[in-house]
Amino acid sequence: MDIVDSRNRSVMRNSCSAYRQTRRELIGWTAGGIALLGGGLVSRAAWAATPTDTMTIGPFYPVLRPLDQDGDLTVVNGIATGARGQIVDLAGRVLKPDGTPAAGARVEIWQANAAGRYAHPADMSGVPLDPGFQGFGVQLADAEGRYRFRTVKPGAYRIPDGRVRTPHIHFDVQGRTSRIVSQMFVPGEPLNASDFLLKASEAPDTLIARKLQPPPGTADILALEWDIVLVAA
Ligand SMILES: [Fe+2]
Repeated sequence: MDIVDSRNRSVMRNSCSAYRQTRRELIGWTAGGIALLGGGLVSRAAWAATPTDTMTIGPFYPVLRPLDQDGDLTVVNGIATGARGQIVDLAGRVLKPDGTPAAGARVEIWQANAAGRYAHPADMSGVPLDPGFQGFGVQLADAEGRYRFRTVKPGAYRIPDGRVRTPHIHFDVQGRTSRIVSQMFVPGEPLNASDFLLKASEAPDTLIARKLQPPPGTADILALEWDIVLVAA
């Protein structure tokens, strides 16, 4: 099976917002009598969404994955206290370039805890670990490409050369024939503007999540939506 890395493909434009915009454009064309949705006249290219940009896997991919790998990173089996920090409800879809769901895609995430510490031997920051934080999770996208994690907002952290990473969550997403390693960023974070990796991205809009209204009664939860567009199925 060929694994295609999106770094080798051209970048078109924004991910799901671009997909939605393209759909609005198509509807607009339809109103003008040019295109017929469902009538076989809409080309595959017209539905194309921008592949999510790739980013480095970084130095903190788990050496030893936790036994507890489910989608709720705020609770660790056998630990009575939950994770410290602001709860994040992170959901989205894994999509193919034509906007259809990448059903069954495997979605891994790993991240620093709320204080900015990875549970990894290469993290020499001295910042305390949080035994109640899972730090790593895996989900399989459903038939509509949807995934969902409950986690905490990662803290910013300083790397050894003094630069500061803005809060981010690492992703490794494997579809049927393509795979993307990237990082998701929190919208509105002041440190986003100075993050050297986000600044180096050719498609930063594909890396920043969208903030949603939290469900009623959960105003302290940060609800984020981030769609991932693969370069192939
Ligand atoms: Fe990181």
